[in-house]
Amino acid sequence: MNAIYVDISLSDEKKRELLFHGQLLVYSPTPSSLKFVEFARSMAEAAFQPHDPETAQYELPVERYAAILAELKPKFIHAPQSKECIQGMLRELGCDLEKTYFDVPRMRSSTSDDYLKTGIAYAFHPHRDTWYSAPMCQINWWLPIYPVVPENAMAFHPRYWCQGVRNGSAEYNYAEWNRTSRQNAAQFIKEDTRKQPKPEEPMELDPQMCVIAPPGGVLLFSAAQMHSSVPNTSGRTRFSIDFRTINIDDVIARRGAPNVDSECTGTTMGDYLRGTDLAHVPKELFSGYEVQPPLATPKEFEALLARSLG
Ligand SMILES: [Fe+2]
Repeated sequence: MNAIYVDISLSDEKKRELLFHGQLLVYSPTPSSLKFVEFARSMAEAAFQPHDPETAQYELPVERYAAILAELKPKFIHAPQSKECIQGMLRELGCDLEKTYFDVPRMRSSTSDDYLKTGIAYAFHPHRDTWYSAPMCQINWWLPIYPVVPENAMAFHPRYWCQGVRNGSAEYNYAEWNRTSRQNAAQFIKEDTRKQPKPEEPMELDPQMCVIAPPGGVLLFSAAQMHSSVPNTSGRTRFSIDFRTINIDDVIARRGAPNVDSECTGTTMGDYLRGTDLAHVPKELFSGYEVQPPLATPKEFEALLARSLG
């Protein structure tokens, strides 16, 4: 990773190629992303009223706070307006809705000063989404709901784009996770005992990089990018939205980021919905996605990067 492209106007194929090469793309707010942020704010404000969502952590006992999030987050995920906003964003940013599939959006919260960082407000350790059964062609979309600062943002760890880390992904199976761990996130208030793929060797997290975009500004990155939640010391809870997309041409052609260290099993392929009519990815295209591609040697890594999407 060596570049951040801001408001770059390119074909969707070219953008995906840049992302699969480890670059970041940032876009100014679009009409639909602003609508999305507005919708998320209205839901959060209704859930926390009379408190301000960014500072409600200072007014509420943590159990009550977790209970509010446990109701708010699924509501947001499944609201039809959320899907409409995503479809609008995809259109406005040049994606072909026939070929682009997205999963339901998540609302994330990162509270300040270790108030709540487990379960429903999990503070993400350094990870790649590809450790969690995302295909190598997955693209992550991230947008802040309220203004963010480096003290409460999400961080990238660029040196690990091409460098593998010993990690626990070989023990992660997506179907198994869904069966056992996803349902009851809100019960983990003090400690999170769910088994997640984590780094298993010391990492050098610095230099790390945060992208500070305004609310509704959109950050795009490959699912293979190493990223984490910055320990929040800002005094305000960070609220953000993220969702993921795949392009069916990439799925068929098996294009995507090189795999340096993801060894999980299972696939999130069943989660994505077509941009036009919310149809699922055809089952016959799943085969081969139940395991990640073989790990790339440094030489193969170079060769993979040299491949163009055309
Ligand atoms: Fe992630």
